[in-house]
Amino acid sequence: MTQFERQTLNDLNGKEWVKSTKSWFIINARPRSKKQLQHPAKYPEELVQRFVRFFTNKGDWVLDPFAGIGSTLIASKEVYRNSVGIELNPDYVETAMRYLEKFGNDMQSRIIPGDARQARELLHQSYEGHIPIFDYLITSPPYWDMLRKSRGGNDSVHKERGDKGLPQFYSNSSLDLGNITEYDKYLDKLTGILTSLKSLLRPQAYLTMVVQNIRDPDGIMRPLAWDLAAKLSRTYALRQEMIWCQDNKRLGCWGYPTTYVSNVHHHYCLILQNV
Ligand SMILES: C[S@@+](CC[C@H](N)C(=O)[O-])C[C@H]1O[C@@H](n2cnc3c(N)ncnc32)[C@H](O)[C@@H]1O
Repeated sequence: MTQFERQTLNDLNGKEWVKSTKSWFIINARPRSKKQLQHPAKYPEELVQRFVRFFTNKGDWVLDPFAGIGSTLIASKEVYRNSVGIELNPDYVETAMRYLEKFGNDMQSRIIPGDARQARELLHQSYEGHIPIFDYLITSPPYWDMLRKSRGGNDSVHKERGDKGLPQFYSNSSLDLGNITEYDKYLDKLTGILTSLKSLLRPQAYLTMVVQNIRDPDGIMRPLAWDLAAKLSRTYALRQEMIWCQDNKRLGCWGYPTTYVSNVHHHYCLILQNV
């Protein structure tokens, strides 16, 4: 056995293992605090824990290059995994740090402000050359520039956030992937970042990308999840997709009575492996 080979993938018992392998599951987001609401697209800690508990063992290292307000880090710490996040918006970094301070176990968690394109350099500086080897990567990148485009008129979450004075997008930075207007350019940048992280991951480590297929307000479908799966398959082995369903979201009345537009209440969780 090499230093990277594992006796077991995780510490689940057989029953827990089987339950975790169903290809779809429902996780409903819990109500968010005022501070958490400042972020337009946080994912639930329960989602992260489901995957982290399957793809790692206690004490392993988890990486999230688009860490937002730190859900991956908080979730990992709660189940005794070490974690590192990179996040462009310093306000989100501060929120994440504040939440992380509340959890008092020995696990290490660190969120580094900066551009995920510079991940290696940022980690090098932060860890003074001793970068951890990551056992797992889980992240949810900006879904292209979706947050910049209002959908569904009066019924939309976008409009509701605007009415409440909450931020509708992540930042105005030109480095923010959510501000790239051309779909192909966005996809190339995102793929480039994920490809560049390969050398930071342990051989055989798994990755989970949480994404959605997107319908542009002009009606054109951008199958982001499928496009990303195809692009990343050049670097990593695509193992499967899991479908995360949300069952507590309000149904909007889109397109009625002329055009088919669905209420998209699911996300794809692409499972890849560093082979
Ligand atoms: C979908 S959100 C992630 C939310 C996170 N999973 C959470 O629960 O808090 C995507 C994040 O990517 C960040 N981001 C966008 N471009 C980035 C870049 N070039 N480098 C690092 N982070 C970036 C955004 O600021 C945003 O917080």
